[in-house]
Amino acid sequence: MTVQIAATADATTRDTIRRLTGGGPRRIAESAGITISHGEGAWLVDDDGKRYLDFATAMGVAAIGHGNPSWSTAIAAQAGRLAACVLHTHEHADYLDKLSHYVPAGLGRVALYSGGSEAVEVAIRLAQSHTGHRHVISFTTGFHGKTAGVRFTGHRYPDELPQLGIDWIHDVPYPLCLEHDAVDYPNCSDNGEGSVKALDAYAAHLDGVAAVMVEPVLGTAGNRPPQREFLRALRELCDSRKWVLILDESITGFGRLGANFAADYFGITPDILVLGKAIGGGYPLSGVAASGHLWDNSLYAELSGTSSSYGANPIACVAGSAVLDIVTAPGFLDNVRSTSEYLAAGLRELERNSPYVTHSRGVGMMLGFDLVDPATGAMASPELCRGLFRACLEQGLLIVGDVPSVRINPPLVLSRTDVDRALESLTAALCP
Ligand SMILES: Cc1ncc(COP(=O)(O)O)c(C=O)c1O
Repeated sequence: MTVQIAATADATTRDTIRRLTGGGPRRIAESAGITISHGEGAWLVDDDGKRYLDFATAMGVAAIGHGNPSWSTAIAAQAGRLAACVLHTHEHADYLDKLSHYVPAGLGRVALYSGGSEAVEVAIRLAQSHTGHRHVISFTTGFHGKTAGVRFTGHRYPDELPQLGIDWIHDVPYPLCLEHDAVDYPNCSDNGEGSVKALDAYAAHLDGVAAVMVEPVLGTAGNRPPQREFLRALRELCDSRKWVLILDESITGFGRLGANFAADYFGITPDILVLGKAIGGGYPLSGVAASGHLWDNSLYAELSGTSSSYGANPIACVAGSAVLDIVTAPGFLDNVRSTSEYLAAGLRELERNSPYVTHSRGVGMMLGFDLVDPATGAMASPELCRGLFRACLEQGLLIVGDVPSVRINPPLVLSRTDVDRALESLTAALCP
């Protein structure tokens, strides 16, 4: 399938990035071939003024939409007042005060950073330092970042592991929910028993497990939820073995599932919570939340133990604070829940009508489906995926869909009218 999309990519911009970026440019940007000039709420606008509903939200970062006035005003004002400071600031104290009331009870001590991988590395070191053990178990097809240690989670770069002598990161199968789509996911009662048993058996051969780290819903792997009771079973196992449970809520936090955190949605409390993406609304911010007991009994307890150049940056703190005001406003989570249910019903309908769409799924505003080739029934080829992705763009919709495992990460401020518009676009692009 070849779909022609107007060649709106500003060739100079694209060529400059291709020529000068370290490593390869972003795949999705190359697949799209357009250059974005600005955003307005749930929409992105390209250089030619064409508008796209943003169902990628920079992989969940732009959860409050683009150009939110209270957020951007707070950042601009803070930039004019104080942009960096190595001493205590009011912004840091005020933000910690707000954030500690927002995170699940018992996790009210938060170290602030500027990127997700960085926060994951800190979470791992916190668990290792607190327990005195080194092994960390994560899940196959999970994703936690690309820096030195965490890049090995999710069974990535296995050839480098022996090369670099890393023997303390492991992965075990993740118990996907394959029975339910996003409409009836709340009815799933499976608990991932096989996976929990396999994990326990695997760990029996290790000389000391520090932590199990898990994405509550697999994001990069295609917004795939686990069997609904799995996290509760995993919590019980970690309790019984005295392993630290790290929940990486980089994507699921700050309302995406229709609850403050996936921890609330699934009814568990982790020992360490990783915060990222939506936390700053687009301003680089991340965090690690844990109990005082953990922090105080780790190497991080020493003075400057958690400090970093951008950690607790005053602009980041006011950005984070503005995000919290938005996501805790009356009706915000109700809107996420009702609008996402409406969208989930639309995706179920799309699956019925499109020869390309199968296995629609998800929770809250973390939805997805797979693209198949109707001619063979196999997963769609890269070329077909790109064609369908571009067809969606042509219809004014950006999804993370230039791959067979499609992700739909709408902004949480989405309206029903936006959903109607998105479903029209998907139907026009994927239902020939
Ligand atoms: C669940 C999860 N954890 C960690 C990260 C890494 O975050 P960052 O890209 O900010 O380093 C990502 C990035 O996509 C993620 O999805």
